[in-house]
Amino acid sequence: METLNERRETAQLGGGQRRVAAQHDRGKLTARERLQRLFDDGSFTEMDTFVTHRSTDLGLDKQRFEGDSVVTGYGLVEGRTVFAYAQDFTVLGGSLSLVAAQKISKVMDHAVRTGAPIVGINDSGGARIQEGVDSLAGYGEIFRRNTLTSGVVPQITVIAGPSAGGAVYSPAITDFIFMVEGVGQMYITGPDVVKSVTGEEVSHEELGGAAAHASRSGVAHFTAPDEDDCYRQVRRLLSFLPSNNADSAPERQTDDDPGRTDTALGSVIPDSANQPYDVMDVVLSVVDDGDFLPIHHDFAGNIVVGLAHLDGRSVGIVANQPAVMAGMLDIDASDKAARFVRFCDAFNVPLVTFVDVPGFMPGTHQEFGGIIRHGAKLLYAYSEATVPKMAVILRKAYGGAYIVMSSKELRSDVNLAWPTAEIAVMGPEGAVNVIGRREIADAEDKDAKRAELVADYRDRFANPYVAANRGYIDDVIDPTETRPTLIKALRMLETKVDSTPQKKHGNIPL
Ligand code: HXC
Repeated sequence: METLNERRETAQLGGGQRRVAAQHDRGKLTARERLQRLFDDGSFTEMDTFVTHRSTDLGLDKQRFEGDSVVTGYGLVEGRTVFAYAQDFTVLGGSLSLVAAQKISKVMDHAVRTGAPIVGINDSGGARIQEGVDSLAGYGEIFRRNTLTSGVVPQITVIAGPSAGGAVYSPAITDFIFMVEGVGQMYITGPDVVKSVTGEEVSHEELGGAAAHASRSGVAHFTAPDEDDCYRQVRRLLSFLPSNNADSAPERQTDDDPGRTDTALGSVIPDSANQPYDVMDVVLSVVDDGDFLPIHHDFAGNIVVGLAHLDGRSVGIVANQPAVMAGMLDIDASDKAARFVRFCDAFNVPLVTFVDVPGFMPGTHQEFGGIIRHGAKLLYAYSEATVPKMAVILRKAYGGAYIVMSSKELRSDVNLAWPTAEIAVMGPEGAVNVIGRREIADAEDKDAKRAELVADYRDRFANPYVAANRGYIDDVIDPTETRPTLIKALRMLETKVDSTPQKKHGNIPL
């Protein structure tokens, strides 16, 4: 027992006191301190504590640490089992050895077999240089598991240190990436290589820090000002998610009345069709207790996606945001929403879509960037999704964007509209420019003619009743009753079963 205790104590120190102190000096927690914060108190069980590498090249025989460069195991998050690994920077810079990869692979396999989420905490100098191709093979093992695990159990990554080169691709395949500001950095090639190849001068943080990836590249879904906050956020995210794809998310107790109406919703939509408003006023009013977890909050603000509860049940919210770029769909918004819709579908999280979209964003930047390809992803994601789907058209639903945003034809189950909804091929001004061109040209008072045609078009088409007459909209509802109406629909859809033709897999336009 003495030997066991001694060895266990030594293993707990990772690379030793000096390197633990250096880790703290860098403003970072150690791997074990991180896992303590992630899991319910005292619930973490470590696995493979005594694994060591077996390499002897380049002096590695003199640098052997029990546990090697990653701490792995399982524990409880709000009472539910979760697997985790945390790379240990104090051991050879957290670099990935073959045995470290085997340890990670082992907990991933457990996660899949037991149907529990897996959280990876990354802090590593990348491939263990001394181990060469063995280390690269280790990465390959992890990437393959990330891919096969995708859609089976939720995979969450925390970037709490360097993550560079090919090593970024394990996080990239996972469902959600958290980055700690000033601590986590991700890039394919670092600032030195960037400078030598392109001549650009850029700092580590500018190139691959939390802000860069949360707001510009969209690689990160969440950021945290510090590590404590980060693990709190991971725990909160997990509380919205099922443990696996055969399960549903835990029900949350709420005192929020399912029949609650909100008179404020009657005046959310401004009188002028072109005036913006904040769609979050609608989302927060409808969901339980006004509690909403935004995902990709700082990326593509023209669309809002996130998790909430309705009647205690976890739901995914997608909402066009008229307060940003009039809520137009662009490349980033399409990617953001498509990925979220697919996540929800994979994990049995019903979708609620709030629609106010004037169309896709015009311009060469968007066209040359492939808005056709990216917009198609959102169509594909909604069409493919078999979870309960509900949509509420708040105001504009024009053209292709109307179809994309969870329309009936894309297998949406319950489609509602507020009386303020405008459902048509295009907005009145655009439509009159096309079909009234000659009439306006021939008129003496062109402005008056245009105004008359616009008013006529608005009366005839820019309302929800044409769509409702044809059953494309199931009902036009009083906005104040949005929450009770959605909850009734969600309860009705509880037992929904739908299927997709047999295939190996589809070919989403990537
Ligand atoms: C072995 C490594 C290592 C690595 C760091 N160390 N990276 N050992 N293999 N890849 C060791 C250092 O020798 C040092 O050991 C300890 O870890 C801490 O490193 P420092 O440099 O002192 O720390 P810091 O100043 O914070 O800098 C961190 C760093 C830097 C930016 C990550 O260490 C670095 O640039 N490392 C190399 C990164 C790299 O090029 N990796 C390979 C990328 S290619 P001592 O004994 O002094 O404590 C790749 C391919 C993956 O990863 C492909 C997947 C398909």
